[in-house]
Amino acid sequence: MQSAVEIFRNAAELAQQAAQLILTQSQLAVARNNLFTIALSGGSTPKRLYELLADPTQQFRSQLPWDRIHFFWTDERHVPPDHPDSNYRMVREAMLVRAPVPPTNVHRMLSEKPNASEAANDYESQLRDFFHPPAGELPRIDFALLGLGPEGHTASLFPDSEVLQETQRWVAAPWIAKLNSYRLTMTLPVLNNASTVVFLVSGSEKAEILREVLKGEPDRFPAQRINPTNGALSWLVDENAASKLQEPF
Ligand code: 6PG
Repeated sequence: MQSAVEIFRNAAELAQQAAQLILTQSQLAVARNNLFTIALSGGSTPKRLYELLADPTQQFRSQLPWDRIHFFWTDERHVPPDHPDSNYRMVREAMLVRAPVPPTNVHRMLSEKPNASEAANDYESQLRDFFHPPAGELPRIDFALLGLGPEGHTASLFPDSEVLQETQRWVAAPWIAKLNSYRLTMTLPVLNNASTVVFLVSGSEKAEILREVLKGEPDRFPAQRINPTNGALSWLVDENAASKLQEPF
């Protein structure tokens, strides 16, 4: 798997670099199209990044073109938006309420719907209405931010899940047996059609899986299926996560 890997000293520097990348890319996209679309992940790693983007003492808060940024989610837990596990809630509290984000720029998954498939269908419609790509084409998200789970999952694409074979659906609601719950997730075709995909990985507990994903046998883990068809892929990782990788990349 060929992709750019950048290693940072610690989680703070990792967040700083990711924030800088989002600032640069959003400014470029807005200059070009007057719009920047970003799909966000949940989990614990990106929280520091979201807080940094909205921190009033940092340059990002004042320099980001907030009114031209539209926020989407790569995946969501099947819980209401105020639930402690909600990815939307985490992003809202860490960033959205602290920054000048127009409510119409926030496109969350309606994960409170009791039927997870219906929630996935609804999100697919939201994407269709917003991006309205030509018939048969996929939405093209400017920037997809992903994390890496301990068993190689990314977004809510878990190992051995049928959703990994999906070629038609943009959003799906896979049943995750080990979590005993449904998840909502953008599918591989949509994530791989993004212009830029960035993985953010932090902590020594990710060192082994990061090594396996980047240096091990190909096609074993869902994260290895992320390979933008017409875009850039990079891995931003901290030294703890990178501790089992060896040069050269
Ligand atoms: C989620 C995610 C998921 C996450 C990874 C890494 O909803 O849990 O979007 O794919 O990115 O599990 O999570 P951590 O950052 O917490 O390690």
